[in-house]
Amino acid sequence: MKSIPYGRQSIDQQDIDAVVSTLQADFLTQGPKVLEFEEKFAAYVGSKYAVAVNNATSGLHISVLALGLKENDRVITTPITFAASANCIRYAGAEVWFADIDSDTYLLSIESVRQLIESKPKGFFKGIIPVDFAGLPVNLEDYRKIANEHDLWIIEDACHAPGGYFIDSKDVKQRCGNGNYADIGVFSFHPVKHIACGEGGMVTTNSETLYKKLSLLRSHGITKENMQENHGGWFYEMQELGFNYRLTDIQSALGITQLAKNEIGVIRRNEISETYKKAFLGNVKFQDLPKGSYNAHHLFVIEVDDRKGLYDFLRSHNIFAQIHYIPVHTLPYYKEIGYGSLDLSNSEKYYSKCISLPMYPTLEDEEQEFVINKVLGFING
Ligand SMILES: Cc1ncc(COP(=O)(O)O)c(C=O)c1O
Repeated sequence: MKSIPYGRQSIDQQDIDAVVSTLQADFLTQGPKVLEFEEKFAAYVGSKYAVAVNNATSGLHISVLALGLKENDRVITTPITFAASANCIRYAGAEVWFADIDSDTYLLSIESVRQLIESKPKGFFKGIIPVDFAGLPVNLEDYRKIANEHDLWIIEDACHAPGGYFIDSKDVKQRCGNGNYADIGVFSFHPVKHIACGEGGMVTTNSETLYKKLSLLRSHGITKENMQENHGGWFYEMQELGFNYRLTDIQSALGITQLAKNEIGVIRRNEISETYKKAFLGNVKFQDLPKGSYNAHHLFVIEVDDRKGLYDFLRSHNIFAQIHYIPVHTLPYYKEIGYGSLDLSNSEKYYSKCISLPMYPTLEDEEQEFVINKVLGFING
């Protein structure tokens, strides 16, 4: 049996042809493919605007800056995420405040967020960064209510969830990153994610002001619009201290063909999830699916008592499961700046048991059966 990773990209001839033809075209970067990818991505998730970036970490960075985050401000996020969801807050010199997760959905617990917010005076926090963990959409309508009451912004870290949605109280499907409840959504195109660009990301919003700010910050803060002076056709102004966080046309061409296959990919991911659930029901705990939610399934996570034992056992059978995630507040950087003694018991308990099983559209049925047999064989001794 060949080795089975927990996630991998699916690249076909159409993807290869798209990249090759962009290599033969006039623009390798700052050309028409970037704009096309942005427009198609915005249409796919249902947002007004999309700004392509070189990875989601950059996307998160310019998002907090566009929302005006400053030194010593405070933002709430989840510890069960990739470090970048919290690091973007630190890049702005602001403080990360971790709330605990819900033990069944593994998402940031809204009760825990509310408790934290209400334990402090109004204005103490500036924003919240909930994460659509494993592909399960956060109910952003609930977060919007809290955000409006306390004057907070919301960045939806939707890196795991292109194609996911929740149903709101008006019975409307709200696709991840559509910007109806969050101010900004951020996606990643790292190869283990749904859409592979090598590296890449997308920032979505419905606000024209944020769109303009994000576009400026992505490209050095340089623009030819609303200039104070104009010396001629060559002239531009640097109006903000921005970055070079641009996605190339080569990556965008790949992103476009990958995006076109995402809907089918998410359906296949859900089929795989159903098979796992049937096999594990009553025997192994897995992520809860709230009513009306459609999980985009970047990951399929189970909880087991002897997690290390299972991880090592699966590796010995060439199954490369993974752990998502080591709680961010326990990472040495965060420990050293004072988070070591935080008590986030649900997150820490979850971490002691979680393991992500193989989940990607090209996982074959026999491979999945092999994984299930090994997991059940280990657990049932
Ligand atoms: C939840 C989450 N946020 C942010 C990121 C950062 O994405 P990128 O690798 O594109 O910078 C990741 C990537 O692993 C992620 O899983």
